[in-house]
Amino acid sequence: MPIRPDLPPEPEFGAPLDPTYPSAETLQLLALRRSTPVTMLTEPGPGADDLDAMLRLAMRVPDHRKLEPWRVLIIEGEARNKLGDIFAAARKLRDPDVSDEKLANEMLLPLRAPVILAVISSPNHHDPKKTPVWEQQLSSGALCQNLLIAANAMGWAAVWITEDAAFDSHVHAALGMTGHEQIAGFIYIGTAKEKPVERQRPTVANKATRWTG
Ligand SMILES: Cc1cc2nc3c(=O)[nH]c(=O)nc-3n(C[C@H](O)[C@H](O)[C@H](O)COP(=O)(O)O)c2cc1C
Repeated sequence: MPIRPDLPPEPEFGAPLDPTYPSAETLQLLALRRSTPVTMLTEPGPGADDLDAMLRLAMRVPDHRKLEPWRVLIIEGEARNKLGDIFAAARKLRDPDVSDEKLANEMLLPLRAPVILAVISSPNHHDPKKTPVWEQQLSSGALCQNLLIAANAMGWAAVWITEDAAFDSHVHAALGMTGHEQIAGFIYIGTAKEKPVERQRPTVANKATRWTG
């Protein structure tokens, strides 16, 4: 059963906070975390309280100059069907010769999990010299990863996907996005039908080298 979060109250602005938080459970989660492929997700999904807690945790993210350059759309229940209609209409515009079968599949994509969080990168372009747009986009990516970790720690299975829809301007318009916004990811959240298996992982030796000047 998913763990209902018993979170500490949000710290007051300016309250002193511990600089470290030694936690064997956090290390365990990071050592063994695995996304659940979207086809392995099913009901149930997190309710409003869990989602609220998950989002609150995820938004404690590094953010250069506190621009909050992201926002999240919570898509659940019937709204997933409306998103499926949008995905299908977008697919038809991208690919006018697409078969009816493929269009029908497109409509079903949002129904693969009970909850989808669309994380929208919403950079502030007013002063890009101070906080480059790239840095603001990275903050959105960190928010996505925080969501995965918070979801897993609360007992929910989750995966971060984009697929073609995330890059489609018709989808962007239908979701009310403005020109400078992009979809950092759709975080699909639910319950795993089966256990995902370990995938191939990089080795530290291959990916990290000691720079000595
Ligand atoms: C920005 C981004 C977009 C992704 N989009 C997809 C996608 O569209 N389809 C997919 O199968 N995996 C996608 N992934 C990969 C999965 O989220 C996941 O990382 C991968 O399956 C490896 O599993 P792991 O998280 O357990 O390492 C994406 C990852 C990132 C960071």
